Amino acid sequence: MTNEQIADKARALLRANNTGVFIKPGSQQYPHQWNWDAAFVALGLSYFDLARAQQEIRSLLKGQWKNGMLPHILYHHGASDYSPKPEFWQTASHPDAANIPTSGFTQPPILATCLRMMLKQFADKTSRLEFLAEVYPKILAWHRWFYTARDPEGSGLVAIIHPWESGNDNTPRFLDALQNLKPENVPQFTRADRAHVAAAERPHEEDYLRYIYLIGFYRDLAWDDKTIYQQAPFLVADLQFNVILHQANQDLLALARELGEDRGEIEAWLRKTEEGLNTLWDEEQGLYFDKDLCTGKLIRIKSAQALSPIYAGIPSRARAKRLIEEHLLNPEEFAPDGKSRYFVTTIAKNSPYYEPRRYWAGPVWINMNWLLWLGLKRYGYHDLAKTIRQHSLELVSSGFVEYYDPRDGSACGAKGFSWSAALALDLLVKEQ
Ligand code: DGY
Repeated sequence: MTNEQIADKARALLRANNTGVFIKPGSQQYPHQWNWDAAFVALGLSYFDLARAQQEIRSLLKGQWKNGMLPHILYHHGASDYSPKPEFWQTASHPDAANIPTSGFTQPPILATCLRMMLKQFADKTSRLEFLAEVYPKILAWHRWFYTARDPEGSGLVAIIHPWESGNDNTPRFLDALQNLKPENVPQFTRADRAHVAAAERPHEEDYLRYIYLIGFYRDLAWDDKTIYQQAPFLVADLQFNVILHQANQDLLALARELGEDRGEIEAWLRKTEEGLNTLWDEEQGLYFDKDLCTGKLIRIKSAQALSPIYAGIPSRARAKRLIEEHLLNPEEFAPDGKSRYFVTTIAKNSPYYEPRRYWAGPVWINMNWLLWLGLKRYGYHDLAKTIRQHSLELVSSGFVEYYDPRDGSACGAKGFSWSAALALDLLVKEQ
């Protein structure tokens, strides 16, 4: 398939998933608006329909709570066959809740980064600045919420309270933390996530039970940020989440400069989070890790996310070299070999947790490849970046699905997956 054919198909999918208010992340599996999906989608849309891209961001920001929190799911049109249903979250009575039904927690803050990339498509400076001035204060308020609600002690690392916040739901990185939970009084719940996707490609039952238990736990605390931070049974300084926030702060800083806004607060976040991220480096293994804030221990699982600091320019040259040469290029871990054809498996192939078709436990994800592609270019690894870009385009040319089996590139997860299409458009536009 030619690049032009891939781009045509990507545009067609985004149009087909358009509900009028937002673009569905997947044609069947995800019928509502998701936070980081919307940011990727807006970036993709910006290459062929800038007005629609702006609308995607406006729709997302409609779900913002008065305290700044930007939820992970927005139910613009009420319930569907997706579970949890809007009322399951019991967020409506929260004093800060939005006017539309939403979930009670957030997702990786990649919006500022996608926004900055998207703003390049404005030909007219006045409308660019108008749009930026409209959305900037809202994104700033979201980042401020992170540093107050999720890092009240000022460590520079913000915490997640649920695996779904990471966007990497069933990554084995969270297994121990989940196993330490004692699920009791789990709310009544019927799983609907295996109606459109094979059970073998979705989270294991014991993990899902804990996802629901945690939602019930926070519901019982009436979604109060302060109590949640003190009592959360799952509290993780998620590496990639903080890396994404750090890059988003760099982008927000540039946007503040353009608007002539005060930059002191953002500069302070940048200093603190850089320092925090560097405490997650493990010299012996040559990798960065998440930290379980309930036990105070690093979570030493080899994942693609452990390489993500290159995306935000965190590691020194020497550390980046170790991440890339000892790990990303290691055929026993992430690089193709006789057992796998495609970069980048989300879990190292020699990990006992590696499952090549199960959601975040091994398959190749286009957004993960995209993040590492940007990081590799940042550190001057242009050939490897080119290879990862090429692998990603080869994968999507057989269809835009949620994730891909690294062994043969076959389709896994949700069909008609919007961010795979949106990020393919970005990969295509940004020829090396
Ligand atoms: C799901 O339903 O699996 C989503 O990832 C939750 O955000």
